[in-house]
Order: sequence, then C-alpha cells, then structure tokens
Amino acid sequence: MRRGFFITFEGGEGAGKSTQIRLLAEHLRADGHEVIETREPGGSPGAEAVRHVILSGAAEPFGPTLEAILFAAARLDHLEQIIRPAIARGAVVLCDRFVDSSRVYQGVTGGIDNEFMTALERVTVAGTMPDLTLILDLEAEEGLRRATERRGEAVADRFEKEMLEIHRQRRDAFLDIAARDPERCVVVESSAPPDDVARQVSEAVRRVMEKRLVQENGKAEDV
Ligand code: TYD
Repeated sequence: MRRGFFITFEGGEGAGKSTQIRLLAEHLRADGHEVIETREPGGSPGAEAVRHVILSGAAEPFGPTLEAILFAAARLDHLEQIIRPAIARGAVVLCDRFVDSSRVYQGVTGGIDNEFMTALERVTVAGTMPDLTLILDLEAEEGLRRATERRGEAVADRFEKEMLEIHRQRRDAFLDIAARDPERCVVVESSAPPDDVARQVSEAVRRVMEKRLVQENGKAEDV
C-alpha cells in the first residue's frame, strides 16, 4: 500500500485554520483521496478526554510543565490510534495544530525549558513528522482582533497590550520554525480572502505530492 500524507496547519488563533482544512479536504476528496480531518489537542477518544482536562482549565493550577506533558500524552495517543494507521493505509491526514503548537505555546510563550520540550517531542512524535506544515500567518493585531471577536468577549485595556505582545511572540516563533525547516514548512499569508488562501494551500500540497512522485519514480528507475 502506498504511504499517505500527513499535513498540519499551524498559526495563532483566528488565522482561519479550520476554514482552510475544510476547503482543502473538499478539494482532495474531489480528486479521489481518502481524507481524515483531525485536530490537536484531541482527535482520538483518549486525546479528546485529555483535551477536555486541558481546555477546561482544570490542569492550569498544576503549572505549565504538567500541561505540556498532557498535550504530549494526547499527541501520543492521537498518533497511535488515528494518524499513523491512516497514513499507513494511504490516506491524507489534515491536522489542526500539531507539535509546532507545543514548541510555540509551551516552549516559547509558556517558558518551558528547551531541553525538556525536545525530549518530550522525541518520545511522543517519535519520527512521525508532517510531510507538510502550513503556517497561516497573520499580523498580531489582526489575529488578536479576530480571536477576541470570535470569543465574543471584550478585552480589558490593561490586558490588551500584554495579549498583543504574546500574539507577536507566537507569530515570530512560528515564522522562526518555518525559516529553520523550509523543507517541511510553507508560510501562507492568511489576511487574504479565504479562496485566495485556499489556492496557495492547494498549490503547496500539489508540490509536496509531486515531489513524492518524482522520488518514487527515481527509486523505481534505480532498481
Ligand atoms: P482550540 O479551541 O482548538 O483553538 P484554536 O482554534 O486556536 O486551535 O484550542 C487549542 C488551544 O490549545 C490553542 O490555544 C493552542 C493550544 N495548544 C497548545 O498550547 N499546545 C499544543 O500543543 C496544542 C496542540 C494546542
């Protein structure tokens, strides 16, 4: 069976990841691919249970290290139960957030030690890195505006500056990941209309699929 593809979507809140995943899934299904749409934290029954613990805030009093381990525990289960079996049977897995979110939210703005994050990543991801990571990039001001609008909450002025600074740090951290790993990551400017963003996303996916074909043909010629 031909190996499938693992594609992750990353970026700050309000960057439009879920819309883009939906549009790409439609496009790929129309082309005859089996597509799995999933998300982190969550995606498998075990990981969804952990998601509930994390996002309800129940783990917050126990500190950022425990939270980082919970994100990793959810990821381990999600990889074992859903992602690896789907890739093995040839499906295209579209995942809303993955390990880059841990690197950014826990490792950079969460202040967790780099060595600890690297060790955690090694034992959970265990080599199953995405074939392609689409980083939906948005100016921090716009991301914050969309995120607060979506939550329907007003942000007190004294928090606004602090939140903007965190959004900036996260944006820079995602861009830094992309710059260090250009083979895997593609940055897509996501302030454009969703259809334009979707075209750039599809183009990046097409390139990755073509590259695989070329590699496979190369190998076939070698034998
Ligand atoms: P979610 O409601 O799925 O939001 P979003 O639309 O922004 O993806 O919440 C997921 C939250 O969890 C989000 O704030 C990012 C955070 N997160 C981490 O801190 N670390 C991680 O490893 C992952 C996967 C998510």
